[in-house]
Amino acid sequence: MAANTTGKVVVITGASSGLGEATARHLCSSGATVVLGARRVDRLKSLAGELTQRGGKALAMATDVTEYEQVKRLVDAAANTYGRVDVILNNAGLMPHSPLERLKIDDWNRTIDVNIKGVLYGIAAALPYMKAQKSGHIINVSSVAGHKVRAGGAVYSATKHAVRVISEGLRQEVKPYNIRTTVISPGAVDTELPNSITEPDVAEGMRKFYDDVAISADSFVQAVVYAMSQPEDVDVNEILFRPTRQEF
Ligand SMILES: NC(=O)c1ccc[n+]([C@@H]2O[C@H](COP(=O)([O-])OP(=O)(O)OC[C@H]3O[C@@H](n4cnc5c(N)ncnc54)[C@H](OP(=O)(O)O)[C@@H]3O)[C@@H](O)[C@H]2O)c1
Repeated sequence: MAANTTGKVVVITGASSGLGEATARHLCSSGATVVLGARRVDRLKSLAGELTQRGGKALAMATDVTEYEQVKRLVDAAANTYGRVDVILNNAGLMPHSPLERLKIDDWNRTIDVNIKGVLYGIAAALPYMKAQKSGHIINVSSVAGHKVRAGGAVYSATKHAVRVISEGLRQEVKPYNIRTTVISPGAVDTELPNSITEPDVAEGMRKFYDDVAISADSFVQAVVYAMSQPEDVDVNEILFRPTRQEF
């Protein structure tokens, strides 16, 4: 299949590590222009510098996805610098698991703000450009936890279910504008995600689970490439994948 990724302007939130970073590296090396947002701007800048040195086109901007104005600035920068916004990958997220009875209210608030509002702000920032272009692709990152819930993961799971619901509503609404929507739901992939768990015993259990089952971030990258590479009249709406050895 011809990679329909070359030349596209792709905004990626949460590009400073894990799935976002791996996707940025791959897409940039295969000819896409990447516009990278996250809070750890040193990491973003060194990634953008490395990609640029290798002949790619990459722009980095400090972005906290819980602030709409910052997400808008990131997407505006993509449009102002490169003339269009073809894809937004709403990927920034965290997973501070803990049983509800521990009342980790700050964790709940951060998870909702980043995982739900961050995705909505990405949609809000990109939609006006995509509507005007009459083309675009919004890719949101959910999780296996967006399909299932387990004790200790209620809030994370709720946010990832929300991402799927928002994505399906969006899919129906953007038909008049020729915009594609994809929600990708990964299982355990080897990234820094377990570091967002604030309860030491829960973090230890999750690290052990990831050590046992997690697969490489390339699995996610291939899912993004598959969705992006379809002909413009083909809209891949959902991709759910797990490590072969993952039971949950
Ligand atoms: N890895 C998995 O097993 C797995 C499975 C299912 C779903 N996912 C989802 O995949 C997405 C990416 O996670 P990952 O696995 O790549 O984990 P990761 O390595 O921890 O990356 C998370 C990214 O999100 C960014 N982020 C967190 N809070 C942010 C904020 N307020 N504003 C902007 N960026 C923020 C982080 O950057 P800064 O800290 O620099 O801001 C980082 O770049 C998440 O939505 C996660 O829920 C992952």
